[in-house]
Amino acid sequence: MNYLVTGGAGFVGSKIADKLICQGHQVVIIDNLSTGYLSNINTNATFIKGDCSDINTISKLNEFAFDAILHIAGQSSGEVSFEDPVYDINSNTVSTLLLLQYAVKKGCKRFIYASTMSVYGQQGDQLCFSEKDLTNPLSFYAVGKLASEAYLKIYSAIYGINYTALRYFNIYGPGQNLVNLKQGMISIYLKQLIDPSFDKITVKGSSDRFRDFIYIDDVVSITTGFINQQASFNEIINIGTGKKTTVSELLALLKQHTGIEKPVEYYAGTPGDQFGIYADIHKLNNLYTAPLEHIERGVRLFCKNALGVK
Ligand SMILES: NC(=O)c1ccc[n+]([C@@H]2O[C@H](COP(=O)([O-])OP(=O)(O)OC[C@H]3O[C@@H](n4cnc5c(N)ncnc54)[C@H](O)[C@@H]3O)[C@@H](O)[C@H]2O)c1
Repeated sequence: MNYLVTGGAGFVGSKIADKLICQGHQVVIIDNLSTGYLSNINTNATFIKGDCSDINTISKLNEFAFDAILHIAGQSSGEVSFEDPVYDINSNTVSTLLLLQYAVKKGCKRFIYASTMSVYGQQGDQLCFSEKDLTNPLSFYAVGKLASEAYLKIYSAIYGINYTALRYFNIYGPGQNLVNLKQGMISIYLKQLIDPSFDKITVKGSSDRFRDFIYIDDVVSITTGFINQQASFNEIINIGTGKKTTVSELLALLKQHTGIEKPVEYYAGTPGDQFGIYADIHKLNNLYTAPLEHIERGVRLFCKNALGVK
C-alpha cells in the first residue's frame, strides 16, 4: 500500500512511518522540520521538505497516489499557539484543509488525523472525558485541532472521505524530543533531570495536576491498525489509557528510574493548560484490545533509553 505520513520527522509521525515501512508499505513523508529532525526520517521513505499549509508543497504530491493519508504533522504545543496563533492555525487547520482537497482531487478515501485531548478543555469539575462530551477549547492549539475535526466531518458527508480523528492524550516514550521544552510533560521533566546544565526541575502549574499518559508503541499500533479497520471510519476516538498520573507521581517515577534527584520549583501554569484530564476509553476498547503499556514500565523504558542504558 502507499501512504502519506505528514510530520514524519517528528516523534509520533516518524514512529508511524517506521512501522508502515517495516510492514512493507511505501511511505511518502512531508515535514517542514520545524520541530522534527532529518535524522528521524526513515531512509526508505520518500521525503518532501515543505509545509503542509503551503499549496506548493501539496502540489508536489500530484505525482503520487495514496491509499491513505495520515496527517500527523502539526504545531504541537499549546504554549506556542499563544506565541504565534497564525502559524498555529496554518499548521493545524489550513494544512488539513489542503490535504482534504488533495484527497478529493486524487480519489484518496482514507484520512487519519492527529487531534488532541485539548479540545475538551476544562469543564467545571469534570476530569474524565468521552467523545460524546462537549468540547471547550482553551488554547488556540485546541481551536485549530477542533476546526480540523469539523472539516473532516464535512468532507466525509459531502465527498465520502473516511476519516478517523484520534484525540491523542499525552504521548511519551523513546524518540520523544528532549530539546523542545514547550511540549511533552514527561520529556520536559526528564530532560531537566538528566541534563547537568539544569540545576532544578521547573514545573509550570501545581504538583497535583494530572494527565493520561500513553506509551508511543501503543499509539503507533493503534494508529496504524485503524488504517483499514472499518469500525474506526468516520469516528472521533480518544487515545489514552483511562488512567491518571499526577505531576508528583510522575516526578517520583522519573527520580526512581534515573536515580537522579533535583530540586523542583513550581511556577504559574501556561495559558490554556488544563488542570487534570483523563480519557474515557470505552470506544477505544471496542476497537483495540491489546493491553496498553503501564506508566511504571513505560517511564522506566523511556528513562533507560534517554540515559543510553541497554
Ligand atoms: N505528543 C503528544 O503528546 C500529542 C498529544 C496530542 C496530540 N498530538 C499531535 O500529534 C501530532 C504529532 O505530535 P508529536 O508529538 O510527534 O510532535 P512533533 O513536534 O515531534 O512532530 C510534529 C512534526 O510535524 C512537523 N510539522 C509541524 N508543522 C508542520 C507543517 N505545517 N508542515 C509540515 N510539517 C510540520 C514538525 O517539524 C514535526 O516533525 C501533532 O499534530 C500533535 O499536535 C501530540
